[in-house]
Amino acid sequence: MFRTVERTPSGVRLLDQRKLPQAAVYITCKTPEETADAIRQMVVRGAPAIGVTAAFGIAVAASEAATLDPGALDRRIAEACELLAAARPTAVNLFWAIARMAEAAREFRAAGCGNAELAEALEREAQAIHDEDLAACRAIGRHGATLVPERATVLTHCNAGGLATAGYGTALGVIRGAIEAGKKVRVLADETRPLWQGARLTAWELMEDGIETVLITDGSAGGLMRGGQVDLVVVGADRIARNGDVANKIGTYSVAVLAKENGVPFYVAAPLSTVDLACPDGDRIPIEQRDRREVTEPFGTRIAPDGVGVLNPAFDVTPARYVAAIVTERGIARAPYEASLAALASGA
Ligand code: MRU
Repeated sequence: MFRTVERTPSGVRLLDQRKLPQAAVYITCKTPEETADAIRQMVVRGAPAIGVTAAFGIAVAASEAATLDPGALDRRIAEACELLAAARPTAVNLFWAIARMAEAAREFRAAGCGNAELAEALEREAQAIHDEDLAACRAIGRHGATLVPERATVLTHCNAGGLATAGYGTALGVIRGAIEAGKKVRVLADETRPLWQGARLTAWELMEDGIETVLITDGSAGGLMRGGQVDLVVVGADRIARNGDVANKIGTYSVAVLAKENGVPFYVAAPLSTVDLACPDGDRIPIEQRDRREVTEPFGTRIAPDGVGVLNPAFDVTPARYVAAIVTERGIARAPYEASLAALASGA
């Protein structure tokens, strides 16, 4: 089994997702600068995975700087938090993990910890963020399995699998959970342009697990739903607003509208670290705009005329009215989401 992200004695070790599926190559980020760069370049991607990676990046910064005077260590931690937060704007898990690490640093200092103790505490906090994400994904799998019929064809978009989390996955966690519950599941994976996370990553990780996978072009999802060939859709999320609006990989909104039109349930699977209760609705979610060359020159081959205008938003927002349910580690939220998400988040 691959390891998406882990802390090793030399730094933050990442499976380089840019190289998949041709090669499973690992790289090690030795500084928070290298870690932020790996997030920006999408060596590691997926909302929970980038949160975990940032947490380890902060732990690395603290360990590196533990021999400096306390003020210098605190400044280095603050600097690491700031540069990691600037890596990508949409997935709230990144900011959630950074805030949790910064808060841990403040608390341990306030309790009178010296540098060595503080660095150790941040290592433990980052590992806890990793381990809790893995446990959350498994719980999402158990809850989500109840939504999957005995024999099901499930459509998914992008990659919300083990590669996008500390392991197991959110949307793919639901699929894995259903299979572990004895159900027969076939997956339709949208290829997911322009970076092909469905073709490169979802197809790869499902096939590694021996899960029946059929790769489809993004444009065929609607026709397949209309033809009765999809029982349900399950996707991950980068940020869920308080009212249940969901930001996820570009193209998710189209899938959700087509699902509603064709009477196919559209589910979102995400840990509560993806729910941003401070964000009232999807219009306030910042959407990352990425380099035009991802569209005009996929994988270095130019396919569009020089100078053509390009729009390349990396995410879109699906309004809550298209979402049949949101599967979290604490249970399944249904509309009205403002109440159900708040209740789950508070542990009620
Ligand atoms: O640009 P990416 O590959 O980081 O986008 C990832 C997605 O949109 C995922 O669906 C989302 O982060 C959920 S991952 C469990």
